[in-house]
Amino acid sequence: MSDDVQNIKDKLDVVDIVGEYVQLKPAGINHKGLCPFHQEKTPSFMVSRERQNWHCFGCAKGGDIFTFVEEMEGMEFREALKYLADKAGIQLTTNFKSEAQSSQKNRIKDINRAAASFYHNVLTKMDASKGAREYLQDRGLLQETIETWHIGFVPEQWDLLTQYLLKKGFGIDDLVESGLTIKREGANTQTMKGFYDRFRGRIMFPIWDVHDNVVGFTGRVLVETEKSGGKYVNTPQTPVYDKSRVVFGLNKSKKEIKHKDLIVVVEGQMDVIACHQYGMTNVVATSGTAMTEEQIKLLKRYSNNMNMAFDSDEAGEKAARRGIELAVKAGMNVRVIQVPEGAGKDPDEVLKKDKQVWFDSVSQAQDVMKWYFDRAFVGKDVKNPKDKQIIATELLREIKNIPFAVEKDHWLQELNSRLGVDMTVLRENMAEIKEEVTRKGKIEKKKEEINIKEIKKTRLDLLVESFLIMALKFHKQLSTFTFQLLPSLSTGPYRNLYESVKNAYTSGVLNIDQLRNDFHREGQENIVDVLLMQGEKDFATLSEKDAKIEIEKLSNTIKNEWLASERKRLQAAISNAEKAGDKDALAQLMKEFQNLNL
Ligand code: UTP
Ligand code: MN
Repeated sequence: MSDDVQNIKDKLDVVDIVGEYVQLKPAGINHKGLCPFHQEKTPSFMVSRERQNWHCFGCAKGGDIFTFVEEMEGMEFREALKYLADKAGIQLTTNFKSEAQSSQKNRIKDINRAAASFYHNVLTKMDASKGAREYLQDRGLLQETIETWHIGFVPEQWDLLTQYLLKKGFGIDDLVESGLTIKREGANTQTMKGFYDRFRGRIMFPIWDVHDNVVGFTGRVLVETEKSGGKYVNTPQTPVYDKSRVVFGLNKSKKEIKHKDLIVVVEGQMDVIACHQYGMTNVVATSGTAMTEEQIKLLKRYSNNMNMAFDSDEAGEKAARRGIELAVKAGMNVRVIQVPEGAGKDPDEVLKKDKQVWFDSVSQAQDVMKWYFDRAFVGKDVKNPKDKQIIATELLREIKNIPFAVEKDHWLQELNSRLGVDMTVLRENMAEIKEEVTRKGKIEKKKEEINIKEIKKTRLDLLVESFLIMALKFHKQLSTFTFQLLPSLSTGPYRNLYESVKNAYTSGVLNIDQLRNDFHREGQENIVDVLLMQGEKDFATLSEKDAKIEIEKLSNTIKNEWLASERKRLQAAISNAEKAGDKDALAQLMKEFQNLNL
């Protein structure tokens, strides 16, 4: 396994892997970008090609290409290994056949791929699909579009697909797990009686994940009758399909989204397909539900800007608002697309009537806060105190979601000037507004707090950290004098590294690569790499000569700081021992105290 890891690392470059998700720019000898794991407006996320690692100075996450893919894709190590091996074109020596779960996932993906081809062939080649082909033609879909999106059809029959896939050798249990086959009560696995297709008499749209795996389907009825069920039927939750994590069309849009640095979000898959056919290819859909946190996280990989369109009915707006709020909270720049009255009920219709109207509406999308403001004031009288409160409550709720202080303040001032309400009053009112946090949100917040606690360092720790940063970057400027000044550290997060640096130096060789090896822990971020990177970030322009002076100053400060804290600790211990009348302890402590002053 470790051979596999090394081979993959030799073939792949961290800058390329991270660069697929984050826009990186050169910064000194490293690369820099906006961290994909937390909200920020100025980049504190760094990648080192030299050491093949990454680290965020904002949220303290970091590691190598494996940990990056795990974090980013939510993969386990094994999945990441397979994923990166494929990318590197390496055959893994490790055998994962025993992993029943992961191979079931792969079997279901195979089933889905076979089903997609089946549906597509049925649509394009069979006489029975004439009606379906005419329907799609009437809706304006080109043959090319049908190919690109691998659109298919399944006639109104009981178990056409199930029988086909069984003949191809797939197992009935896997077919049921894939959601394509439904098992009735008392179904018989010998005779295969009691199994039938979920999708019947529908136009079939494959749903892909970002890596082009078919993870599910959505099927639209051809003829809406009383018995046909919902207009659209979707794959249920399966081991490979979780509708809250999939964004329809993202696999085909991600490139253009990055290129344009803009995500256009519409409601339906027909809208996505129509947009692409008309040449707007940075368009995705959340498939009729409110956007989830997972979907936003996924989208944020590709761009932080989102223009949203939604049906102007009340349900559409309500679902959209929920998604917008989450996106704003996640620090995205959200704009709202409004099509002119009468231009069409959804993008698909607008495009067909007049392509330009849709393109203009997208480029003229309005800042979501402006949009909220406009809506809030409609039909209200700003002289009426009751109306004023209604407006304020509604808008403060949205302003509160903005994670950036300056932006928040901007909209508070806007509210202040339009309502004539004092800023202090607005701020107080905003603080009173309860956030509608989901249970999950709460858990995540807690996690964050724990993290911050974990990295809380004392002043002395921070000084030692700075010392080590400089000592690693400017190790040629260390002198025995530096370490004579410095005490040995008995506590703190940097004790081990400090001792190693000191020992290495005093025994004559401070080899940085050796040190990196010594501090390498599988699956964990290397502390030496983090500090080296910090040095490259903070001291890019410091000369060796000035560094030497800084290092000596720093070691002096550390010594004094350490002495002061030791004195404090010992004095407290001494007075405790006195109170308790513990003579032995007292003698011991007094001796320690005197040693300090030597
Ligand atoms: P719409 O009813 O607006 O459909 O639902 P549409 O996209 O315009 O489809 P066409 O043009 O009539 O073919 C928007 C989205 O909501 C989901 C689908 O993803 C659809 O694209 N939806 C809708 C369902 O999942 N089930 C339904 O019964 C209806
Ligand atoms: Mn439509």
